Amino acid sequence: MTTNPTLADLAHRVTADRDRPAFGHDALITCDRLVRVFTADGVEVQALQGLDLLVREGELMALVGASGSGKSTLMNILAGLDTPTAGAARVAGRDLLTMTARDRLAYRREVVGFVWQQTSRNLLPYLTAAQNVALPMQLHGGKTHGKERVRGRAARRARAERVLELLELLEVADCRDRRPHEMSGGQQQRVAIAVALAGDPSVLLADEPTGELDSHTAEQIFAAFRTANERLGTTIVIVTHDQAVANEVRRTVAIRDGRTSTEVLRRSEVDETTGHERVVAREYAMLDRAGRLQLPAEYTKALGMRDRVALELEEDHIGVWPDNTGV
Ligand SMILES: Nc1ncnc2c1ncn2[C@@H]1O[C@H](COP(=O)(O)OP(=O)(O)OP(=O)(O)O)[C@@H](O)[C@H]1O
Ligand SMILES: [Mg+2]
Repeated sequence: MTTNPTLADLAHRVTADRDRPAFGHDALITCDRLVRVFTADGVEVQALQGLDLLVREGELMALVGASGSGKSTLMNILAGLDTPTAGAARVAGRDLLTMTARDRLAYRREVVGFVWQQTSRNLLPYLTAAQNVALPMQLHGGKTHGKERVRGRAARRARAERVLELLELLEVADCRDRRPHEMSGGQQQRVAIAVALAGDPSVLLADEPTGELDSHTAEQIFAAFRTANERLGTTIVIVTHDQAVANEVRRTVAIRDGRTSTEVLRRSEVDETTGHERVVAREYAMLDRAGRLQLPAEYTKALGMRDRVALELEEDHIGVWPDNTGV
């Protein structure tokens, strides 16, 4: 039997809550009540309506949501290409709302890498795969991975080595001297991932990177993201319509009407009866700092809940019931 918590219990919990660290203090990406309003032909579109999102360092996660829900708007903000109207957004300690133009440029070169849906948007058509990958390294001012800053011929050699390492990691070393039109869509996207990783970013953002590819190639591209995440430790956020891709990651966050609504966490568990490992998925709702909770539409519809629900606080959960008072 469960007993309802006493007022003293609740007071204690509230005090404990106040001592908790600030929202997202240990996250690599923090979006706190992020708002983006577009005005087109005098009409306001609220693309993001107070979106909260935390991404930990080293995560590989997917963002899903209906067309127009605000996914690309969010990615453009995280990529440093667009500025939010209100709210807070921090990536690797940089404040995306207060950055100067110069900070923004450095941010795009050093902190984030991106891969877009259109294969043609990711690579320069007149450069070979190797030249495309070398370009961000040159812009990066001679920084080489894990080594001292070096100049001249030594810098070029170190760069060429790193270009090859990245192309090998993504299994497209054989394409190094080809231009984009001489590669398949899948090969172009792998080279695009290598380009995005060339500046050694903290975060790799990909907006529908498999949108133009068939499902088999999409799987291979996804495997390439996983390799980058596991081998280089890069934090990766992928927007996808592809449920198969979304099922491959530990965490999938759904965006609805410009806010994060639910998220699915998957973890491996050993089945006690068969001894086999299986993936257990569980759906969670986001609870914002004001205590607002968005219940999945399927759940509320199934129980005919609308406008008002009855709540009850129990020892270890909160009960939500349809409002049957008829008042
Ligand atoms: N530059 C802009 N000017 C005006 N409205 C915009 C602009 N960019 C996006 N929007 C609007 O903001 C909303 C969110 O768009 P967004 O591109 O973020 O959606 P999405 O989730 O990426 O959709 P899709 O899955 O189709 O790519 C849409 O209503 C869109 O029309
Ligand atoms: Mg989009």
